Amino acid sequence: MKAVAVFPARRELQLIEHQEPGIQSPTQIKMRVLDVGVCGTDREITSFQYGTPPEGSDYLIIGHESLSQVIECGEKVTRAKPGDLVVLTVRRPCPHDSCIACRSGRQDYCYTGDFTERGIKQRHGYMTEFVVEEESYANVVPRELREVAVLVEPLTIAEKSLEQLRTVEQRLPWDGQGHRNAVVLGAGPVGLLGAMALRIAGFDVTVYSRSSKQEEKDDIVAAIGGQYIAAETHSIDEMANAVGAIDLVYEAIGASSVAFEVIKHLGPNGVFIFTGVPGRKAPIEVDTDYIMRDVVLNNQVILGSVNAPPHGFQQAIRDLGTFMQKWPAAVHSLITARFPIDQATKPLEPGAGGIKNVIAVSA
Ligand code: BGC
Ligand code: ZN
Repeated sequence: MKAVAVFPARRELQLIEHQEPGIQSPTQIKMRVLDVGVCGTDREITSFQYGTPPEGSDYLIIGHESLSQVIECGEKVTRAKPGDLVVLTVRRPCPHDSCIACRSGRQDYCYTGDFTERGIKQRHGYMTEFVVEEESYANVVPRELREVAVLVEPLTIAEKSLEQLRTVEQRLPWDGQGHRNAVVLGAGPVGLLGAMALRIAGFDVTVYSRSSKQEEKDDIVAAIGGQYIAAETHSIDEMANAVGAIDLVYEAIGASSVAFEVIKHLGPNGVFIFTGVPGRKAPIEVDTDYIMRDVVLNNQVILGSVNAPPHGFQQAIRDLGTFMQKWPAAVHSLITARFPIDQATKPLEPGAGGIKNVIAVSA
């Protein structure tokens, strides 16, 4: 079968032939891959900054944002049947008895760092024609989400963040939060999906971003009842003045200089959530005394969040359904283009435009 793989030692990205997998245990399912989303992590991997092949392999099949259709089930499978649409989780547990996170099914909080991730770390990914996986890692998706369900995985980043936010907010010992102001940094798929999740969670949302597609982003954010502020025309100070006290910042740009500037504008009891993974660049100057003082004097929380558990995927599937009822055109417009697998390297090239590019492996 066809697959898209990186060869880190040779610094090559290629369409390869790979052995088609088969079911190995009664709790596994076999799927035909339909759609695979391309994200910043894939661009890091295909520029050889990140990503590790499985042991004994000189290549890694990429792709971790997927939608597939079940074609075969082991005899003990109960949660999926042939024909079902499913989205697979990404991370698999580390092997250590001492890791209470992985032993509790919460490898998204793995302590040892020896977890694996499909399409990213020591496990082949989904940018291929067929995959086999344990049913416990598969999440069934309603058929009406067929065209957009490839957005489930990037939405899980917001779901896990929001779950942690709710835990943090329990420190405030009163009921109800009234109106809350959220600022989303970045208007890529993670930022825009995060903005949608924050809207349905009751936040007033401002998206602050630099983007070549200002008008398009502005339209999407307006459609969901948020406000878009362009970084090209508004400084961070101006943005912060327009928003007022910021209760939550959801960072989805991966540019640390902007993020640390915005921390200075976080309001009382505010929470700042980092989701981006910046590449290593030259050190920058940050006013650390100012930030530390403010974080303490305002009871602020700075939180990092990565990966998501199965219930985060299930929440994302429910929320994506809600987004589609409220804002179908805005959700559809997040998917910019679909490419056949033979052209999978195109959206991975540096400077490839668009919001979410998708490899349509089969129809
Ligand atoms: C994926 C996560 C993964 C992270 C770090 C992200 O792009 O969405 O599932 O844990 O990269 O590898
Ligand atoms: Zn991703």
